[in-house]
Amino acid sequence: MRLEISGVSHRYDQMEALRDIDLTIEPGEIVALIGPSGCGKSTLLSIIGGMLQPSEGQVSASGAVPEGCLNPLTYVFQDFALLPWRTVAGNISLVLEDHKLSKVERAARIDEVLAQTGLSDFRNAYPKQLSGGMKQRVGIARALAVRPAVLLMDEPLSALDAQTRILLLDEFSALFARTGMTAVYVTHNLNEAVRLAHRVVALRRRPGTIKEIHTIDVPIDQRHEGDPQIAAHEAALWELIRDEAIAADKELEHVG
Ligand SMILES: Nc1ncnc2c1ncn2[C@@H]1O[C@H](COP(=O)(O)OP(=O)(O)OP(=O)(O)O)[C@@H](O)[C@H]1O
Ligand SMILES: [Mg+2]
Repeated sequence: MRLEISGVSHRYDQMEALRDIDLTIEPGEIVALIGPSGCGKSTLLSIIGGMLQPSEGQVSASGAVPEGCLNPLTYVFQDFALLPWRTVAGNISLVLEDHKLSKVERAARIDEVLAQTGLSDFRNAYPKQLSGGMKQRVGIARALAVRPAVLLMDEPLSALDAQTRILLLDEFSALFARTGMTAVYVTHNLNEAVRLAHRVVALRRRPGTIKEIHTIDVPIDQRHEGDPQIAAHEAALWELIRDEAIAADKELEHVG
């Protein structure tokens, strides 16, 4: 599915959060949104997902969705949003229960996404028995179960410790490369952006506008930690957002 964001602006009361955003996301493309705190990344993701109506402009989706797609634009939550009284399989089943799937079909989908995310041995575990990394794998499995056309991820690794983050980053890059997924990935972390995205959209703030779109022309499954080419892209991104990141940081310090 192709997403066309045209002339999107958004205000919260008097505050202009986004101004005149134009961006097209092609099928199979992973686009990262980066920029300083408060530049409107989450706002833009919510608008793309249809959860928030923009003050101006529109997002249009066109083209085919995967076979068996139940929800074209599917959101992955930062805090996992799992029901504590349901098992791993039960939490995944949750998003399938509103749809007309046979019991057999539902079970097959759950098995498939458990296998894709390395959770097959944990299907009967409860969230409280799982580490943060495992919980986020369940969050991803649940999103994949609806066979989304586009996965929308808002800082999916930010609640995790550094080692787990690196592990999941490797798993995401393998998953994205293997499935040819389309995704919009919001992150503060430039390393995540350069490992996962085909294009990185750098936003500036007040109001949030597109500063630059940076293309990374290395296949996602050939990007590795410590690769000099990837490090050079990361340095280029830092150059892009450094001044504003410092300004945003100082402002928050001042308020605190
Ligand atoms: N529901 C809301 N009501 C009023 N203002 C809001 C609301 N949500 C966000 N904002 C403001 O809009 C601006 C953009 O917020 P947004 O959450 O989209 O930024 P962000 O780039 O995701 O920030 P962060 O990196 O901290 O997650 C910020 O100034 C924020 O305070
Ligand atoms: Mg945010």
